[in-house]
Amino acid sequence: MNIATGPMSPIVKDRDDFKAIRRSLAQLVAAKDTHRAESSLRVSHDIYTDPIRWEAERALLRTVPQLAGLSIQIQQAGDVLTFDHVGPQIMVIRQEDGGLKAFLNMCTHRAARIVQDCGRIKRLTCPFHAWTFGLDGKLKAVPGKEFFDAAMLGSRDLIEVPVAEWAGLIFVRATAGGDPIVVEDWLGGYADHVKDFDLANAAYIDTGRLEVRTNWKYAIDTFSENYHLPALHTSSFGLDYVPNLLHYDAFGPHHRFALANKSFRATVGCEEAKWNDPDVAVIGFIFPNLILSMAPTPTGRHNLQLTRVYPGSAVDRTFSLTMTVALPGADSEEDIAFARATHDNILIINAQEDYLLAADAQRNLQFAPEDFMVLYASIEPAVQDFHRHLADALNMPMASGTAR
Ligand code: FES
Ligand SMILES: [Fe+2]
Repeated sequence: MNIATGPMSPIVKDRDDFKAIRRSLAQLVAAKDTHRAESSLRVSHDIYTDPIRWEAERALLRTVPQLAGLSIQIQQAGDVLTFDHVGPQIMVIRQEDGGLKAFLNMCTHRAARIVQDCGRIKRLTCPFHAWTFGLDGKLKAVPGKEFFDAAMLGSRDLIEVPVAEWAGLIFVRATAGGDPIVVEDWLGGYADHVKDFDLANAAYIDTGRLEVRTNWKYAIDTFSENYHLPALHTSSFGLDYVPNLLHYDAFGPHHRFALANKSFRATVGCEEAKWNDPDVAVIGFIFPNLILSMAPTPTGRHNLQLTRVYPGSAVDRTFSLTMTVALPGADSEEDIAFARATHDNILIINAQEDYLLAADAQRNLQFAPEDFMVLYASIEPAVQDFHRHLADALNMPMASGTAR
């Protein structure tokens, strides 16, 4: 679980959304209640260790929209964003007309990688034999063209992959061809809340990469529940939030949950107009591997961490990329400094607490008795829903039942 802790902040007046969440949390605190799943869930441990399942998951990641980056990262014509995290090497390029195109980062001559890194280009020249392509992917020049049979050169434009830019986010699908990505359809009921972040006007702060010897789903699980806060995060998050209490919203395979800062206890028996604007942490999830963690800043605004979690080189290898942005309005010097400090802090807690634990757990899972089942509590609806939706998308049921 990765949420930043901030000083007590004034209420964020511009987020109507938060008012409803705050109201819900206040009711839950007063009633000593929480949103929860219908029951706990027991699942075979091999969902974390089965290499066949893992291969199917990797294949799935190439068929669903993946966050390649943010619009603010590629604003000028010729700006390129590379995305290599789910298999194919992909480049997203800002076009002269302001739109985006995405291509396999693969020369159509003999498949060399064309662009090595993010940056700004005028044209695309392959480093191997200098075939040159326009920003639009059209083949412009072939040195020694006379040495090719014209019929074999044929159409050798770059190979496109679907890309969609929406509300400041850039999604790609890492498979050539196929239907266009319609982000609003994909996000369903979550779309309006994501749009609310106004990421097109956010300020980029930093991106950090972590690697961990665990299954990618175990890493995601650590972002998906607050049950572990008091035990694992004894010197950070565990101190700040009401334990075992959450507000939960599911939107198809996506979800978000909100936690009540302990300051919410002061709302009990107090009419809403007199609330002292208690802090809320909201953790969103875009299926199957993007976490959106919103944290308050000292000026009552918010910054946001976008954490993408990917399968690494084996069933027990994972890497994650955490990008921090200051949301619109949270761009005072104080806010930016806070966002930077939060970014560093989150990565340290991720690495030293959640991921360290996840690596040891994975090692145990690899050698666990065959019939060992993991348990997800009813207070972990996001974990349960994530695994259920993933199993559905894979069409691979999770073995659950009566084993230990
Ligand atoms: S592989 Fe690109 S020009 Fe030959
Ligand atoms: Fe955690």
